[in-house]
Amino acid sequence: MNKNIVVIEGDGIGPEVTRQSIKILNAVAEKFGHEFNYTYCLMGADAIDKTGNPLPDETIEAALNSDAILFGAIGHPKYDNDPTAKVRPEQGLLKLRKSLQLFANIRPVSTYPSLHHLSPLKTKNIEDVDFIIYRELTGGIYFGKKETNAEGTLAFDDCTYTKEEIERIAHLAFKQAQLRRKKLTLVDKANVLETSRLWRKVVKEIALEYKDVDVDFLFVDNAAMQIILNPKQFDVVLTENMFGDIISDEASVISGSLGLLPSASIGKGAALFEPIHGSYPQAAGKDIANPLGSILSSAMLLDHFGLHKEATLIRDAVNWTLENGFVTKDIDPVNFYFTTTIGELISDYIGNKFPADINRENIELRKSTII
Ligand code: IPM
Ligand code: MG
Repeated sequence: MNKNIVVIEGDGIGPEVTRQSIKILNAVAEKFGHEFNYTYCLMGADAIDKTGNPLPDETIEAALNSDAILFGAIGHPKYDNDPTAKVRPEQGLLKLRKSLQLFANIRPVSTYPSLHHLSPLKTKNIEDVDFIIYRELTGGIYFGKKETNAEGTLAFDDCTYTKEEIERIAHLAFKQAQLRRKKLTLVDKANVLETSRLWRKVVKEIALEYKDVDVDFLFVDNAAMQIILNPKQFDVVLTENMFGDIISDEASVISGSLGLLPSASIGKGAALFEPIHGSYPQAAGKDIANPLGSILSSAMLLDHFGLHKEATLIRDAVNWTLENGFVTKDIDPVNFYFTTTIGELISDYIGNKFPADINRENIELRKSTII
């Protein structure tokens, strides 16, 4: 298979984690006889520094003409701490989502037995947690009219949804539920918000077409609590843009590290794949960031191309590193391996170098030494 992938390394730890994914995609290409061509493009604070624009036109153009986009991370503290900044890195990502009509953001949440001890939740509550969040990504309060008055004393952000915007993601979520445990939970705030009442009405109508799927409804405040109290109850969670942003960060810590979660944003054309973590500027350039969120995002990218065997091999390799204690500093602050080492181990695994002839001594040489 021959595919064109746009790579946007982005800000902070984005470049170093994305480079591990490229190593692994190259190992997959070699093993299975595929050809992946990469076009590197700018977005975010990096793009502002180099061009003054968080999303240069060339990036949009290349993304529109690609088969998929692999993206690292976005954001820089110099903008976060300056509410008056007119140009912000995040505007680049929002504009890219809109330009590519990436209306569905898919975030799978699962746990790994070897990391249970790192979860803020009790092990008995997180064993076998396996759910997937379908977050609407191009509507709602993120994209409504926003304004601050001349005196700077009043501001507003409009939240609007149309029936069509709700329908297209709801169908994807119901279809996913049919392939899984056949349960869909709509998270909204229908006791207060008009947009949420529209979501409920439209989802109830669509549910009639998916009679094999059980549907339930949760207010977002209750959902935030249930994700902590009993995350096993969820299968497919469907929600609007801002609620999805918030509950997906909440859900991401269940596994024990935010650094592990991948995501896919899909729409009408090319899809975008990115870890859900941020740019983690404090770790940038130190070779300590966890590349697994990005690596698992590239597995989702391969699934999107229909390359399921290849994607499964990446997931097996990731499990193998976790089970054998080859982990980054977020997981083991004392005995940790570098970002680049994890990338090498996983690409070696894919190239059949492990586990048959695993040479621990060689691997140990690639480990950090804390004195
Ligand atoms: C995410 C991020 C983005 C969002 C930011 C960086 C604009 O938090 O992808 O969840 O809010 O959508
Ligand atoms: Mg977020």
